[in-house]
Amino acid sequence: MPAKNHRRAFGLNILNANHPRVRQLKREGAVAEIHGNKFWNSSYLIMDYLKKHPLPKRARVLEIGCGWGLLGLYCAKRFDNRVHGIDADKNVLPYLDLHAEVNGLKMTREKKTFKQLTVSYLSSFDVIMGADICFWDQMADELFKLIKRSEKAGVRQVLIADPCRPPFSALASRCQDRLSKVEVLEKFLKRPVNASGEILIVNNK
Ligand SMILES: C[S@@+](CC[C@H](N)C(=O)[O-])C[C@H]1O[C@@H](n2cnc3c(N)ncnc32)[C@H](O)[C@@H]1O
Repeated sequence: MPAKNHRRAFGLNILNANHPRVRQLKREGAVAEIHGNKFWNSSYLIMDYLKKHPLPKRARVLEIGCGWGLLGLYCAKRFDNRVHGIDADKNVLPYLDLHAEVNGLKMTREKKTFKQLTVSYLSSFDVIMGADICFWDQMADELFKLIKRSEKAGVRQVLIADPCRPPFSALASRCQDRLSKVEVLEKFLKRPVNASGEILIVNNK
């Protein structure tokens, strides 16, 4: 029997590393440099959360550290959101395009770092989200500053999910100490995979 080269979760088609189109991109030189070589599980924690806390239809969503972009694509599919992704690594973007294509969805994207997202840039979005994006100490600081800028920019909500690596826990504590309307939600999933972690939720309005 041929090896399974894709899976389905939360209504999305997700390609495995052995899928011919994924292998083709790799052969063409799209080799991720900052851990964006696959789809990571913390996105599922936010997808599950959003089932009970849906986003407004047509909300403008920014997925940061988007990698293959499946969290953003979920929002496009489920809530008809207008979704944009940014990632520091240009090599992940073709995988996002591929997943948009195989799911019949639209998501724009560009190469940008957390630090490059100015107040004026962020003011184009209602919600910012990211999963598995806080794994080095410097990221906790960059993301805290980004959350502060999002408040100034009028972004309504920021959602960041993580399996609780120490930099994420530091970020969550700093937000709880210094910002109002912060929630840190523990999540455990059995399906579509065993996944656990926390979602940092910052409500600006
Ligand atoms: C562990 S992967 C997670 C990817 C995706 N969010 C997921 O859940 O599958 C981390 C992603 O963050 C990106 N990244 C790392 N540092 C970044 C930065 N300073 N600004 C923007 N993106 C960054 C990486 O290139 C990578 O795609």
